[in-house]
Amino acid sequence: MADVRIRPVNELDIEAICRIDERITGKYRPDVWEDRVVYFIRRDPDSSQVAEVDGKVVGFMLGEVRGGEFGMEEPTGWLEFFGVDPSARERGIGRGLTDALLAGFKKRGAHVARTMVRTQDAEIARFVAAMGFTPAPVSALEKRLA
Ligand SMILES: CC(C)(COP(=O)(O)OP(=O)(O)OC[C@H]1O[C@@H](n2cnc3c(N)ncnc32)[C@H](O)[C@@H]1OP(=O)(O)O)[C@@H](O)C(=O)NCCC(=O)NCCS
Repeated sequence: MADVRIRPVNELDIEAICRIDERITGKYRPDVWEDRVVYFIRRDPDSSQVAEVDGKVVGFMLGEVRGGEFGMEEPTGWLEFFGVDPSARERGIGRGLTDALLAGFKKRGAHVARTMVRTQDAEIARFVAAMGFTPAPVSALEKRLA
């Protein structure tokens, strides 16, 4: 992957992230991505990364180190949102972004990384499994509020 550069995300990347999401989901959601990117930069400015090819952002991964969820006090690196432009896939960019986030999490004191995948997202589950994630000893529960 000679021409791929992984670097921390900044607010100037919001438009590119929004366009990648639009190509994945078919939805243009500038407000959603403005809120998300600003949130992650404020909470943990070094963790979230983008991948550039020839100076163009083609992938992103947002996450942070936090603790205290599920009664587990240890600092945990959370992978929250990611996407690689369909034209740039299967060249190791998703793996490069994951490696960069996990290395940063470790540097910031986390000994474990976690993520959540919707049951219907089988492809994302396969990617996450290829990144070395295994099922965690927690159950995700929900209750619809009428
Ligand atoms: C999942 C995704 C990030 C993978 O990006 P990528 O750059 O193509 O991934 P890589 O080339 O680094 O592949 C890494 C590994 O994951 C596996 N993988 C990647 N995409 C896969 C897919 N669609 N199905 C199954 N396995 C997949 C590859 O086989 C590879 O394994 P290997 O290195 O052992 O061969 C990309 O397909 C994507 O953005 N999908 C949509 C994500 C999305 O919907 N995000 C919104 C929710 S937050």
